[in-house]
Amino acid sequence: MKARLTIALLLGVASMSATCANSAEMAKAMEKKSFGTTPDGKTADLYTLTNKNGMQVAITNYGGAIVSIIVPDKNGKLGDVVLGYDTLDGYVTDKNYFGALIGRYGNRIGNAQFKIDGITYTLAKNNGKNSLHGGIKGFNKALWDAKDISRNGEPALELKYTSKDGEEGFPGNLSVTVVYTLTNKNELKIDYSATTDKKTVVNLTNHSYFNLSGPGSGDILKSVLRVNADKFTPVDSDLIPTGELKSVAGTPFDFREPTEIGARIDSDDEQLKLGKGYDHNFVLNKEKPAGLSLAARVEDPASGRVLEVWTTEPGVQFYTANFLDGSVHGKGGIAYGKRTAFCLETQHFPDSPNKPSFPSVLLSPGQKYHTTTVYKFATK
Ligand code: BGC
Repeated sequence: MKARLTIALLLGVASMSATCANSAEMAKAMEKKSFGTTPDGKTADLYTLTNKNGMQVAITNYGGAIVSIIVPDKNGKLGDVVLGYDTLDGYVTDKNYFGALIGRYGNRIGNAQFKIDGITYTLAKNNGKNSLHGGIKGFNKALWDAKDISRNGEPALELKYTSKDGEEGFPGNLSVTVVYTLTNKNELKIDYSATTDKKTVVNLTNHSYFNLSGPGSGDILKSVLRVNADKFTPVDSDLIPTGELKSVAGTPFDFREPTEIGARIDSDDEQLKLGKGYDHNFVLNKEKPAGLSLAARVEDPASGRVLEVWTTEPGVQFYTANFLDGSVHGKGGIAYGKRTAFCLETQHFPDSPNKPSFPSVLLSPGQKYHTTTVYKFATK
């Protein structure tokens, strides 16, 4: 009921902006409202970005989380395509990272330890003996400073957060800026930037859970995936990469041709057993090492929605929500079950701080970290 009301309100805003066509209307491209009060008494807001096609993305500055992405299906009907919660409280207690900004280090660091210049840094352990997604209080639990920086007729939200030297064990004060831009080509573009005052490691990503037929529509096994990767990084029983870059050829990790996500997910493959499904980093094929290139494309035959992921990053974690078990209730009270969503987390490879052969995640004073990822929506 609540979800229906939210969607009705959002559709209302969409049709309002569709009827106006001048710059006064552009102000409406970004709407801000209170999303609730954090446990330490601060107000979190919800920003709704609307483009000229009526596509809408709602983002809270709590954890920088994407709360909804509303896009048309093949019949032009608008609908939400990400899992999440109706209220701030959901995000405060969430353990699944729905829609959140992840840092300082997205994915796992083995034994929650790494060395820089011979100094060992010990991190908070929040995944057995390992560190996952930034630690116990990662960037997904921070309240970010938000600013409307919409320009050229496209809504854009800037989020800033300073992670203190020693936070969760990471060295250096890290100043982070993330900009979400909703383009008029139905792209959600995310620009991540950071600088540090001490050598550190950085790996920022977004953890949206997509279901192109909408949350509550069942599993994503019939969605058809293409991943632009000839190799992936196999893992051990803790989901830490072994260090090998393994060819996908002849394995259930070969998504070079469009293939249903569910086609091989329960096959007798050691890597799939370790992940309880897909929970692996793919080594992206890069034509231009520094530029944006296609990481993955997903087509949902039921809704006709298509998602393309473009990134400057060398890797993408493909995760089929194997750990959701129906115990978490999200938007509209829907129970989120196993494999009812997929994540495509663009990133550097897991455990890179301990794998000298992987692309480096080191950031030094004077350098600027900058990566871009684009989620592009279309229909077929
Ligand atoms: C990880 C999973 C983890 C999930 C949610 C993914 O990025 O690879 O193993 O369960 O995030 O926490």
